[in-house]
Amino acid sequence: MTSIPHHTSGEPNPLHALSLESLRCRTSMKWRTYPADVLPLWVAEMDVPLAGPVVRAVTEALALGDTGYPAGTAYAEALAGFAEKRWGWDGLAVERTAIVPDVMLGVVEMLKLVTGHGDTVIVNSPVYPPFYQFVEHMDRQVLQAPLGADLRIDFDALEEAFRQAVSGGRRAAHLLCSPHNPTGTVHTAGELAAVAALADRYGVRVVADEIHAPLTAGGVDFVPYLSVPGAESGLSLMSASKAWNLAGLKAALAIAGPAAAVDLARLPEEVSHGPSHVGVLAHTAALTDGTAWLDALLTGLDDNRRLLVDLLAEHLPAIGHRPGEATYLAWLDCRALGLGDDPAEVFLERGRVALNSGIPFGTGGAGHVRLNLATSPELITEGVRRMAAALA
Ligand SMILES: Cc1ncc(COP(=O)(O)O)c(C=O)c1O
Repeated sequence: MTSIPHHTSGEPNPLHALSLESLRCRTSMKWRTYPADVLPLWVAEMDVPLAGPVVRAVTEALALGDTGYPAGTAYAEALAGFAEKRWGWDGLAVERTAIVPDVMLGVVEMLKLVTGHGDTVIVNSPVYPPFYQFVEHMDRQVLQAPLGADLRIDFDALEEAFRQAVSGGRRAAHLLCSPHNPTGTVHTAGELAAVAALADRYGVRVVADEIHAPLTAGGVDFVPYLSVPGAESGLSLMSASKAWNLAGLKAALAIAGPAAAVDLARLPEEVSHGPSHVGVLAHTAALTDGTAWLDALLTGLDDNRRLLVDLLAEHLPAIGHRPGEATYLAWLDCRALGLGDDPAEVFLERGRVALNSGIPFGTGGAGHVRLNLATSPELITEGVRRMAAALA
């Protein structure tokens, strides 16, 4: 795989563009869940203006009244081109893709293809809380194979979970978060090949959620799961929604490895009715023409990761933090602060800063919080100031 360094694209850093006043005019979850005196650094929305090509694509569609149902494979073609240029991966075959409403509904559909009611889905905790919610809602059981102390996959725990999941002849799937939310861990090619080999040995199917793939830190290589040897029966979900802040413009892609094409072919046709046509247009424009904007964003996120390390060292040195290799999320170990299992509650009540509580992330989440770095350096600084003030 080739690594593309973050080059200065001439685009301004989008994380510097918006004032707090304009952000407070937003009506989305990040900005409307808490009262106006709370600084929201929680849910994975970014405080950025949209990339120019995305705005143009959506504006043109609205001007034309082009707001019907999605058609064609332009999104998959754009992703295949992006994957080749960005990750040196030429194995994304458009005929082995399907559009799905969003990544989580895509995960649900992929899990329906490879497991049945009552079967087990293995996750690597601590992990994105909807992994538990969606899987349980579809009558599968979640089994946790916690990450190791180094926040990487613990292969002994994973093997034990695989063994347990398939006992009695049941089908099972491993819902892999790659890159990993909340820790920002980027699994290496070796680790992914080891997952594939282990899954093959136990007959477990891998479904990889790769929504954070474009959001790597400088110098870090993302490796698509389906690109590693042995992953031919895998399924992946990708989307432009996290990297270009398009969660409100619903669309995502399911991608099958060569040996999973027969499974993807069983996806009911009506699933393709779910994505928004305007969403598909926006995601396609992002992947095709939005890479200069993405590079500027990634450079800004690198700066913000460094800023957080400095701010924590100065104001909250007892917090444990390993900067992520990807995503715009920071996972903070607050156990040494003596705030109990839910420090987010204390930071909210006493500091008026909203972070994600670690508890819903599963085993390894208690005593932790997740902080969203996709904002201006000023708001990150203010967030850490409020966290420190909560302890005073
Ligand atoms: C790992 C992961 N998967 C899925 C999602 C949600 O994606 P979507 O809105 O496309 O369902 C998120 C959102 O933060 C995420 O972090």
